Amino acid sequence: MKIVFAASEVFPYAKTGGLADVAGSLPVELSNLGHEVKVFMPKYNIFGEAEFGLRYNWNIGAIPIRVNNTVHSVHVHTTVIPGSNVEIYFVDCPYYFHRFRVYTNDHDEDERFIIFSKGIIEILQRIQWAPDIIHCNDWQTGLLPLMLRDNYGWDRMFDKTSTVFTIHNISYQGKFSKAAFHKAEIDHKHFLSSGIGEYDGGVNFLKTAIFSSDVINTVSETYAEELLLPEFGCGMESYLAERKDDFFGILNGIDYNIWNPGTDPHIPYHFSKDDLSGKIKNKKFLLEHLHLPFDENVPLIGIVSRMVPQKGFDIIGDVIHQLMELPAQWVILGGGMRKYEEMIQQIENNNPHKVAIYIGFNNELSHLIEAGTDIFLMPSHFEPCGLNQIYSLRYGTVPVVRKTGGLADTVQDWNETLAEGKETGTGYSFNDYTGKALLQSLQQAINDFKKKDMWKKIQINGMSKDYSWRCSAEKYVELYKHALQKII
Ligand code: ADP
Ligand code: GLC
Repeated sequence: MKIVFAASEVFPYAKTGGLADVAGSLPVELSNLGHEVKVFMPKYNIFGEAEFGLRYNWNIGAIPIRVNNTVHSVHVHTTVIPGSNVEIYFVDCPYYFHRFRVYTNDHDEDERFIIFSKGIIEILQRIQWAPDIIHCNDWQTGLLPLMLRDNYGWDRMFDKTSTVFTIHNISYQGKFSKAAFHKAEIDHKHFLSSGIGEYDGGVNFLKTAIFSSDVINTVSETYAEELLLPEFGCGMESYLAERKDDFFGILNGIDYNIWNPGTDPHIPYHFSKDDLSGKIKNKKFLLEHLHLPFDENVPLIGIVSRMVPQKGFDIIGDVIHQLMELPAQWVILGGGMRKYEEMIQQIENNNPHKVAIYIGFNNELSHLIEAGTDIFLMPSHFEPCGLNQIYSLRYGTVPVVRKTGGLADTVQDWNETLAEGKETGTGYSFNDYTGKALLQSLQQAINDFKKKDMWKKIQINGMSKDYSWRCSAEKYVELYKHALQKII
């Protein structure tokens, strides 16, 4: 199959969260399965081009693309994703993408991703590459399926192209004023009579994608079920229900080359489930460098997270004082909303011998936290998939999670499995979104940490799980086949 994979962020070029990890690794696995894949992302001015060997594409040259009545020149640079032969195309339009950030709150945020989507289609026309599948991800590429069918419907090259849309997080929908369709030159009927893009009086990119893509999916089976409920669907639940025959859940995989405690270049001591001795050395290294005392009997709890309501910082805040009284140390990496950053800063100030924080983005530190901590905390309010808990499992760091979305699908509660007479648990999970439930679960983990043999069993259980991309990539191939049937 010929597959286009379109995303607003792709690791290692630009990353704010898990979408980048998925976009940097799923295409590679699809290529390993024998498919021809081309990845597309905007060319932001936030990475070193020389480092990644980007080449300007002279054959394509300048492509004039009109957005909001103004014609911009779009250019193309390409390279291959490290460790693969998957080609990545960077859609280059400095006016929109040289803003030192991936996402902005600028007045023309809609235009930035309209030109990205149009750019992808026009580049395919210039290189005369007719894909079987265009796989779009999140609202930033949400108008592409409709534009392909309508604005570019005249181009017979796309007659056999199907579109797949993956929802990585329904709380980001791309909501703009109704002018957005005008800027994209999308027929006004889609706002009025068909209403596929109209929501709350404005244009909603995600809703447009739900109704114009051949197939839709999200990133875990549990989240796919949750999205049909008003509590999780963020207003999209009834639209997804309308499309339920074409709506699926596929759990993300992780890149086993990048996240491998046996070879990870970001950690000083390598280890595996057969020899865990390097893990405690990483813990010591991490604590020393964070200027916290090392005691192998005191569990070190890690958090790596965007600091947004989704990730459970409200319930952490509700019991912050009790959490600080637990016999444990903390290392917290993340950034986002000011109120959460301040809360975390405050607990470091008040507990300098117990807590170390890093407010900001630090890829290397995120690897070291996975390798050097004992417990990983992820008390999310909702979680489409979540990758950090899967990295934790692979690094022998026991996750404590709220049982929702992908967290429910990837972490088996130790006590629940014991109650069933099995010892197959890989972590701890709690149901209620309350500080009290979080505290109880964490307390349980801290108590069990003292039972060394049992703890090791939980670690090995997690490290023995296979969450590599292979199985999930095969499911995507089935999804693509389903999408192809829609247009035959
Ligand atoms: P989400 O995409 O909702 O943020 P995921 O768990 O799917 O959640 O993925 C988050 C990804 O971003 C992980 O690879 C995680 O290590 C990384 N990450 C999040 N915050 C930071 C940070 N401050 N520094 C480095 N990496 C981070
Ligand atoms: C989103 C979700 C996260 C998921 C990631 C990759 O950012 O919040 O749960 O793992 O996308 O699909």
